[in-house]
Amino acid sequence: MNVDGKPYRSIWLNADGISIDVIDQTRLPHEFEILNLQTLDDSCAAIRDMVVRGAPLIGATAAYGFYLAMRQNASDSAMVSAYEALYATRPTAVNLRWALDRMQAALKPVATHKRAASALDEASAIAELDIEINQGIGRHGLELIQDIATGKQPGAAVNILTHCNAGWLATVDWGTATAPIYMAHEAGIPLHVWVDETRPRNQGASLTAWELGHHGVPHSLIVDNVGGHLMQHGMVDLCLVGSDRTTRSGDVCNKIGTYLKALAAFDNKVPFYVCLPSTTIDWSISDGLQNIPIEQRDSAEVSEIKGRLPDGEIGSVAITPQDTAVVNYAFDVTPARLVTGLITESGVVKASEESLSRAFPGHLSTL
Ligand code: MRU
Repeated sequence: MNVDGKPYRSIWLNADGISIDVIDQTRLPHEFEILNLQTLDDSCAAIRDMVVRGAPLIGATAAYGFYLAMRQNASDSAMVSAYEALYATRPTAVNLRWALDRMQAALKPVATHKRAASALDEASAIAELDIEINQGIGRHGLELIQDIATGKQPGAAVNILTHCNAGWLATVDWGTATAPIYMAHEAGIPLHVWVDETRPRNQGASLTAWELGHHGVPHSLIVDNVGGHLMQHGMVDLCLVGSDRTTRSGDVCNKIGTYLKALAAFDNKVPFYVCLPSTTIDWSISDGLQNIPIEQRDSAEVSEIKGRLPDGEIGSVAITPQDTAVVNYAFDVTPARLVTGLITESGVVKASEESLSRAFPGHLSTL
């Protein structure tokens, strides 16, 4: 998507034809900086430190990280170590495992001296597939938005609430929850997006607001507690969120706070849709509450807040009494019963095992 009129992806092959470039998301919205990844360690650090984040982009970065590892050492044992190192970076987004499994399966039969080249091809194919999938999600979600727009007064904006950043920065391009938004905007449908700030890391305030602003999509930033009030007052037509891992029965794990939005949407009969690529479905599990590992992150993300300081530097300030005990769960699970539908590349499906397995045949039989 566009940054100052110039199209960008969130990850790409550097002009040297060897190393990988990513947008450093820890510097946004204050600075647009590109970080160059040259090694396996660089790639692990980029995922762990959230230079890149968002389930699909974590998967794509892991794939490119695997390629960079193969450039360093393409032996069988190096493949195992690269898999383990990348897999350990973040626990919740299942796209990481999906991408690593795909890389490993593609490279195992390849002779060692050809593995680096094959790994680059495979990682690039994963990145291209992500873009194609997100465009599919966009087209299906666009139909939903069109239907809602048709039911409103001519010219009235469709109000969409989104949480965290499930935008193009969280994927290779287009985003999941934002793909329908960008397509509807381009189709001329009047839109307005309520952007949850998404404490503690404020991905909504720093990333989603930045993305939508650069693309000219009308939006307002709200603190995380406002959504319920807006829904009670008929100010939200539709919730669109992403997912880090969705079970085969349709339980949705996403950024902490998503569950509370789903509860408020349910109580106020606001449609609550989850936009996700099939690569985010974990076919091996059914019960999201019991089986999805929920990442717990550094307490400083809660006890401090990051931003541009008066001296122009990007830094953090403390917002709690010193030594306050902090717990920082990064994700929660929204049970399938609260989800109106899943917007996937294969269409809009019910959040149920039956509907998911019909939309994506073949997965359950391989378990
Ligand atoms: O901790 P993050 O920023 O990686 O969490 C991202 C999210 O929760 C997104 O909503 C999710 O990955 C879907 S991205 C298309």
